[in-house]
Amino acid sequence: MQTSKLPKDFFFGAAMSGPQTEGAWRRFGKIDSLWDTWSNEKIEDFFNRVGSYAGNDFTNRHNEDFALLKSLGLTTWRTSIQWSRLMDEDGLLNPEGAKYYHDLFADAHEAGLETFVNLYHFDMPTYLFRRGGWESREVIEAYANFARTAFGEFGQEIKYWFTFNEPVVEPQNRYTNGGWYPFHRDFAQACRIQYGISLAHSLGVEAFRELKADGTIRSDAKIGLINCFTPPYTKENPSEADLEAVRMTDGVDNRWWLDLVTKGSLPQDVIDTLSARGIDLPVRPGDEQILAQGVVDWLGFNYYHPARVQAPEKSEDEFGNPVFAQEYVWPDAVMNESRGWEIYPKGIYDFAMTMKHDYPDLEWYVSENGIGIEGEDASKDENGTIQDDYRIDFVGQHLKWIAKAIEDGAKCRGYHYWAVIDNWSWNNAFKNRYGFVEVDLMDGYSRHLKKSAEWLRQVATTHEVA
Ligand code: BG6
Repeated sequence: MQTSKLPKDFFFGAAMSGPQTEGAWRRFGKIDSLWDTWSNEKIEDFFNRVGSYAGNDFTNRHNEDFALLKSLGLTTWRTSIQWSRLMDEDGLLNPEGAKYYHDLFADAHEAGLETFVNLYHFDMPTYLFRRGGWESREVIEAYANFARTAFGEFGQEIKYWFTFNEPVVEPQNRYTNGGWYPFHRDFAQACRIQYGISLAHSLGVEAFRELKADGTIRSDAKIGLINCFTPPYTKENPSEADLEAVRMTDGVDNRWWLDLVTKGSLPQDVIDTLSARGIDLPVRPGDEQILAQGVVDWLGFNYYHPARVQAPEKSEDEFGNPVFAQEYVWPDAVMNESRGWEIYPKGIYDFAMTMKHDYPDLEWYVSENGIGIEGEDASKDENGTIQDDYRIDFVGQHLKWIAKAIEDGAKCRGYHYWAVIDNWSWNNAFKNRYGFVEVDLMDGYSRHLKKSAEWLRQVATTHEVA
């Protein structure tokens, strides 16, 4: 491919989250989230026994990090407000936590960075999880109260808001495949969780609209949702059953959220198929009106890999859960072996075209995209710089497909890389490194540019990808 150009007003930035960077565990009045509880109870589940406590030392180093992001030509960044830092166990504002974020956002502004705020990044406060988590109406209301409090506190400072990051991931990782605390293997429960999050999202948007109308939130502010959409593919010459597997994978993971945020409802074909297999959502009178509030101003699209599925061999798994699809390994797949994810840059284009076709009014940006590699240290040159050419290749290819999608009419406004500075990543901790900037754990979390950093600076400042 030849040099691609991205529009002048296309923004470049850094995606991160509170729980993965801040550290400052139990400081500034922070109570425990599920990550802290899991780290306390079973540290052996975390790569190299590194739990949630220190993040990447961002609280102590954030001014240095903001200067780094600026020096790389970035103009925006996204973080999340930790529910467990902003609110106490009585559901009241924690003033120390509020000051923590006011100071952080002021420092970002001072450094010349626009802050995007997401309200929830897999980080349920533990005491609310114990009251039923996303299956409990009390917890859903507590989220709405948290959102309302955050909007009230930071409504004049922050322009770009998001209710949730990747709402599909908690249902999948905690309740379908049981990889995350509390390790359940119950698809019906995962669906109830996904439904609970949909209600919480919609109540959050409702609060946003009310507080914007009364002037609490600045008049140019926008609300959105971020999800990791997976463009779905199946085998060549698919059977009816393969296409059915695509329909349900796409329905539960993608269309569920796209319909909610553009139409204020959930896709009926998906609800019907679930119901036919004995999974009924816990719908109550009035829910339809709540979901109708869920329409957003724009969307974040996290893209790491596509979904490749085929008809399942068995219609039930060993736990009695209905199975709608099973993985299909594309013979031409290029894999990131460290993470086990397929690298397929064209997927970003294909999904952009789906959005253009099916949701033509929706504006969006790429809210995460990146490559995490294990053992990068081994590639250091004589100056100690990590030689990460694969990162240049990965990001370059994705940006080229984004440029083409924009040329072809996609409403994509910017790109945030995950994670410009290496950070802590859930139970993988610091196993796979994503950064253009290395965090050296053996040297007090010190930051060092990798080879790819200069490439990023070029691209972000010229908007050209060679
Ligand atoms: C996204 C999340 O799923 O992917 C991030 O929003 C996460 O929180 C990132 O860190 C990379 O995934 P992982 O599991 O390799 O850290």
